[in-house]
Amino acid sequence: MSTSQNWRVAVIGAGTISQRVHIPLFQKQPDTTVVAVCDVNVARAQTVAEETGVARVYSDYEKMLTELQPNVVVVATPNVFHKPMATAALEAGAHVLCEKPVALTYADAQAMFATAAAQSRILTVGTHFRFTAPMQAAKTHAAHGFFGRIYAARTVWQRRNGIPGYGSWFTNKDLAGGGALLDIGVHTLDRALYVMDYPQPTRVTGVKFAEFGPRGRGLGGWGADILKPSANARYDVDDVAWAQVVFASGAVLQFQVAWAANYPETFVTEIFGTEGGARIGGQDSVELYSMLNDLEVKIDTQLPAQKGSSYEQLITNFVRRLNGDADADIVTPAQALIHVQIVDAITRSAAEGREIVL
Ligand SMILES: NC(=O)c1ccc[n+]([C@@H]2O[C@H](COP(=O)([O-])OP(=O)(O)OC[C@H]3O[C@@H](n4cnc5c(N)ncnc54)[C@H](O)[C@@H]3O)[C@@H](O)[C@H]2O)c1
Repeated sequence: MSTSQNWRVAVIGAGTISQRVHIPLFQKQPDTTVVAVCDVNVARAQTVAEETGVARVYSDYEKMLTELQPNVVVVATPNVFHKPMATAALEAGAHVLCEKPVALTYADAQAMFATAAAQSRILTVGTHFRFTAPMQAAKTHAAHGFFGRIYAARTVWQRRNGIPGYGSWFTNKDLAGGGALLDIGVHTLDRALYVMDYPQPTRVTGVKFAEFGPRGRGLGGWGADILKPSANARYDVDDVAWAQVVFASGAVLQFQVAWAANYPETFVTEIFGTEGGARIGGQDSVELYSMLNDLEVKIDTQLPAQKGSSYEQLITNFVRRLNGDADADIVTPAQALIHVQIVDAITRSAAEGREIVL
């Protein structure tokens, strides 16, 4: 494992997430410099570099890896490029923070983590919602046995109008691999699995729909290349996915994601345990339910102040890991593989109309 050194971070993709999140947050880390940003849209890379004070700009990531030999690479491009870019960066000797979904298929994710292991490099994923204050509180309660045995959970992220990048790579199956299921599904899964301590999935049933995007409805604001709704805009991904996952322990997880819905915005993870339950909200709420002296109680946790956003904590922990702190909480290979394994099984279940046994 590496010890503290000067981390030279190269960012592939100068889009929305790297401009707003990766570059400024890595620049806040000690002994860390963002040395270059690369984008096929070189004008965008130039603008982002100027705005954020990054010295070098590239349009070809392989050239950037060869010339600069960064020891950390961030992959923040359309999903289909995650595997080749992360693999090239790992093979060039860099540690990698890859955006979610880490890969389009379970087999691809397995190959990527095998490369990371062979290269003795860290490969982790940007599923940051576990670092929100309510999730950290719920995890603390779980670690101290508050829930007893968790036999069930429900995890939901439904937007009212939140289809990202309409007509761009986000809604193009060849570039995105899928829609809401891949995009917000892995975040939504991570929230529940983190509290459940990552049980092994065994059986998955899922369905997917494309109810809003094909009609130009439910559009949100995210993404660098959004088109106006038009008959020519490509939209061949899902915008809704529901599933049920059963684990080896017998526990069950119900899962709902939607980029758009005729329903209020919902972002909640519910935990059902033999001794306690929880309703975990977004940034500011976790309600606990249990029995006390044979009476039903509801406890509102006073959440401690957070040290920065959830993504800032993800990046801080990643750098701590790079510096040799094995206790720093990051998305591990085993956890990232379970995300993709479940998403992959939901996709297959939806396509084949049957339960998938893993
Ligand atoms: N963790 C999170 O919370 C979170 C949030 C948003 C997006 N993301 C993920 O981050 C990734 C990027 O999303 P975004 O919102 O920034 O998208 P975006 O459309 O805003 O930006 C993507 C950028 O990648 C560039 N690009 C495309 N092909 C490239 C190539 N071959 N080489 C270099 N650059 C290339 C595009 O020109 C564009 O500038 C996606 O995988 C997305 O799922 C994660």
